[in-house]
Order: sequence, then C-alpha cells, then structure tokens
Amino acid sequence: MRVIICKNKKEAVKKAVWLFSQEINNKKDLILGLATGKTMIPFYKELIKANIKFSKIHTFNLDEWYCVDSKDKNSLRSFMDKHFFNKVNIPKGNIHFLDGKTRNIKIECEKYERDIKKLNGIGLQILGIGINGHIGFDEPGTSFNSLTNKINISGEIRNLYSKNFKGFDNVPKYGLTMGIKTIMRSKKIILLAFGENKADAIAKALNGKINEKVPASILQKHKDATFILDKKAASKLE
Ligand code: GLP
Repeated sequence: MRVIICKNKKEAVKKAVWLFSQEINNKKDLILGLATGKTMIPFYKELIKANIKFSKIHTFNLDEWYCVDSKDKNSLRSFMDKHFFNKVNIPKGNIHFLDGKTRNIKIECEKYERDIKKLNGIGLQILGIGINGHIGFDEPGTSFNSLTNKINISGEIRNLYSKNFKGFDNVPKYGLTMGIKTIMRSKKIILLAFGENKADAIAKALNGKINEKVPASILQKHKDATFILDKKAASKLE
C-alpha cells in the first residue's frame, strides 16, 4: 500500500493522471473502474487533456442511484457523460454501467459481475472516499465479502446530495454498487482525496484497524493500492 502526499489538489490530480496514462499506454485495452463525485471532476478534466487513446478501453462505473433513470440529470451516468465520456473517444459499447431503473436488481447485479469477469477483471480502479469512509456506495457496515448489490444510502450522505435533488426527501434512499469484494478484485487501485473534510476518513482508513465500519480500511490489504492525497486530506495521518 502506497501513500503519496502532494502539496495541493492540482499536484494530486496530476500525479493520478500520470499514473493512469502510464497504465493505459502500457495496456491499450485496459479495463478501467471509474468513480463519480466532486473529487473526480478535476481528475477527468486533466485526464481528457492527457490525450490518451481510449478506443480499446472498457469502463465499469462503481455505482448508480436506485431508482434513477440514466438520462436523469442527477444520474451518475449523466455525470460521467458530462465530465468524461462525451469528451473522449471511448466507444459507447465499451461503457458499462449499472441500470438504476432495472426491474430485476439481482439479474442486473449478477450480470455486472459476469461482464467484469468476461473481460478478465478491472485492471485499474479509481476511487474517491466518502466522509464516513465509504467507497462506491458501500456504506459503513457493508460486508467485506459483498459483490455488486443494492444498498441503503445513509442520511449523512443523502444530505450531501440534497441540493442536487432539490431537497433531502428527493434524494434516493438506495443505490446499486459494486461490492467491496468486487472493488478489491481490481488489479490496481488509486484512491484520490482532497480537503480537510476527508482527513478523518483517510486517517481511519490508513491508520485504523481494518473493519467494516470503515469500508476503505480494507484497502490496507490490497496488493497494489495507492492513496494520492493533498496535504489537507493527509493532515490527520500519524
Ligand atoms: C459518493 C460516490 C463515491 C465518492 C464519494 C465522495 O457517494 N458514490 O464514489 O467517492 O461520494 O464524493 P466526493 O468526491 O464528492 O467527495
């Protein structure tokens, strides 16, 4: 497990993009695991600028709101279209996403796991982290053995999205997400975090005991995980 502390957000993003481009240039048909959230906006912006060929890349996003249509402006798919997919040359058929409007959650989640396997697994997964230590939509308490599934989203996290959904009550109570085990199967993981509000979660994930109350703490066990942090996010590390 590696931790890279950069002087600011800009440097952290540059470092993450550099690592990503190295991996993609070494393997043109790499399978990418992608994330959403504010942290990812500058990352995608910089990744687009890196002028990488994405024509053979496949992507799997971590999660989607349940039950939100992919075309809804608040869907995580719309976020990805806006900030990344519409700006790079990834063939649409290579973009894999959980369908937040699925009629059969079990089939949808099992299919996602199968699709990842069929392509020999995720080669490189980018992750953000929630203020409560969640990764994907895997909230504290999620089993480390979980695969892609439907989960409850905590009030704490729903609160953060109140503005987007124009009121707390409109924020979905559920999400579909890769499980912790799905994420851990990725060959390489890069977790990106900036700002003081992430410092507690980062300290718990890196210095705390590995336990299900802090989903990101499982990354201590991953063979090739790198945390790229700005000074503020790293400020509570021992
Ligand atoms: C969301 C996403 C996560 C993301 C996290 C942090 O709930 N499902 O994938 O890492 O929150 O988001 P942000 O980067 O906006 O702080």
